Amino acid sequence: MKDKNIRDWSERDLKKHIVDQRKHLWRESTIERIASWLDLSSGITAVDVGCGLGYLGWTFWRHFGSGSTYVGVDCSVKLLREAHENSSNWSEGGRACFVNASANGIPLPDECADWTMCQTLLMHLEFPEEALSEMIRITKPGGVIMCMEPDNISSSLSMVSNSVYSPSIEEKLAQFKMQLIWAEGRAKLGRGDWGIGTKVPGMMANLGLIRIDALYNDSARFAHPPYETEVQKYGIEKMRENIMEKDEDSRKLLWKEYRECFLAGGGSLSAFYRYKKLSEERQEEFEPLILDQLKEKTYYHGISGSHFFCIRGFKPERE
Ligand SMILES: C[S@@+](CC[C@H](N)C(=O)[O-])C[C@H]1O[C@@H](n2cnc3c(N)ncnc32)[C@H](O)[C@@H]1O
Repeated sequence: MKDKNIRDWSERDLKKHIVDQRKHLWRESTIERIASWLDLSSGITAVDVGCGLGYLGWTFWRHFGSGSTYVGVDCSVKLLREAHENSSNWSEGGRACFVNASANGIPLPDECADWTMCQTLLMHLEFPEEALSEMIRITKPGGVIMCMEPDNISSSLSMVSNSVYSPSIEEKLAQFKMQLIWAEGRAKLGRGDWGIGTKVPGMMANLGLIRIDALYNDSARFAHPPYETEVQKYGIEKMRENIMEKDEDSRKLLWKEYRECFLAGGGSLSAFYRYKKLSEERQEEFEPLILDQLKEKTYYHGISGSHFFCIRGFKPERE
């Protein structure tokens, strides 16, 4: 495998992310719209690269599954095992199978898939164009390639106020600068481009795809009492859970990784420690307040932006 930075997404904190965060990631109405925009039909072969637990498979199944084959490709054997076990719950009427491999060398024949897809994969790769070119290789002429990837750099600009804290302009600027340096270092270390969503259309065009188009994820999240929607209720519950079950080991690991990237991006050690200290002090101060407010149902936060795109391109038919 060429990617030296592959992380094990079956680890507790990462797996929690791809379980919890997926619950209300795309609205059902948006999935329906995407399915018709992609022109999905039954009886096809669909390949999901970096499939994790098979999210795209079960999410889109009712739009393509009948008589179809879904192939999930991932580098984590543990996730694939679980994805395989779960797939019997959603793959009725078709077939779901799984392949352990790198996205940069997919062991599937040329032109075998009608629909090749990925979600939040390219953003973690050192060589995303190589993976995309593999996805194109395995797609039939006339077939469609879909990438769901975010621009987390611009997302990190939206530092919304909540009921316990409202950052000043200076604080927002300082935080955004930290994020930019961190993201630069992350890419330099080969851990992926945090803003890749904005670049995928260009990458698709350079690799010869046509009819390239992109949609936004229209799921906007906020919390305000009495938390009427399912999404708000779920978000509030997860917030409470994350504070209550504070996973110190995960936090330590996150800070270690943050430090590596920040330094690689040109940040100084003293700036890193200042930021870490301030963030930890804020956490100490705000978490108990948030818990109290959640209990009293007075906690709120504004709409937190997630710049998340669904980008498609078609492989040209042979002349
Ligand atoms: C953020 S998770 C996304 C999982 C799934 N697509 C979803 O949306 O729930 C990224 C996935 O890509 C896999 N992955 C990361 N690097 C990979 C590589 N080079 N080759 C294959 N899979 C990779 C990870 O194991 C993980 O399952």
